[in-house]
Amino acid sequence: MNRKHLLVVIAIISAFIYSCGSNQQPSANNAPANATLKEPGDSTGIPVTSDDSKGKGKFTDIKLSHPLDQKLIASGKTIYDVKCNACHKLTDEKLVGPGWKGVTDRRKPEWIMNFVTNTDEMIDKDPAAQAMLEKCMVRMPNQHLSDEDARSILEFMRNNDGKN
Ligand code: HEC
Repeated sequence: MNRKHLLVVIAIISAFIYSCGSNQQPSANNAPANATLKEPGDSTGIPVTSDDSKGKGKFTDIKLSHPLDQKLIASGKTIYDVKCNACHKLTDEKLVGPGWKGVTDRRKPEWIMNFVTNTDEMIDKDPAAQAMLEKCMVRMPNQHLSDEDARSILEFMRNNDGKN
């Protein structure tokens, strides 16, 4: 392999390594026709929808508790340790999926709960979820969370983001 080919190979490999969760522009060209994606408001490069979408699923109006519910945080952590931490870090660093730091600022509570309980439909139909899939190249498998599990995970994420 000559030097030029080597450089091309390196470029391709780095494109994959940095494809999800780094400082890249959302690929608006490939987005579904009705999607309006805006640039990420944080360092992750994960596209967000401009209408502050609640996503697709049964959760349309989540009441948040202030202060945070410590019991929900604890059960959320247990679920994270068992089912999520193979693919998600708690920082803004990508593993298989995006890091969770800032996820409660990127997404509405309803979007998060719909995504984790209705993962397949969200990835098929939600513009922001589809844009994420394009970056991550791996489809998140349905984790079979109950409604209560989803609420616990949300509280755990709010805690991770320093909310109160
Ligand atoms: C096999 C790897 C894998 C596992 C396990 C996994 N995820 Fe994911 N997750 C992903 C990928 C990949 C994405 C990006 C969306 C896509 O491409 O499917 C994602 C995206 C997400 C998002 C959206 C993040 C954002 O920045 O908008 C949330 C929320 C999420 N996952 C929650 C969970 C929860 C909760 C669990 C555990 C119950 C979990 N995930 C387990 C791979 C995984």
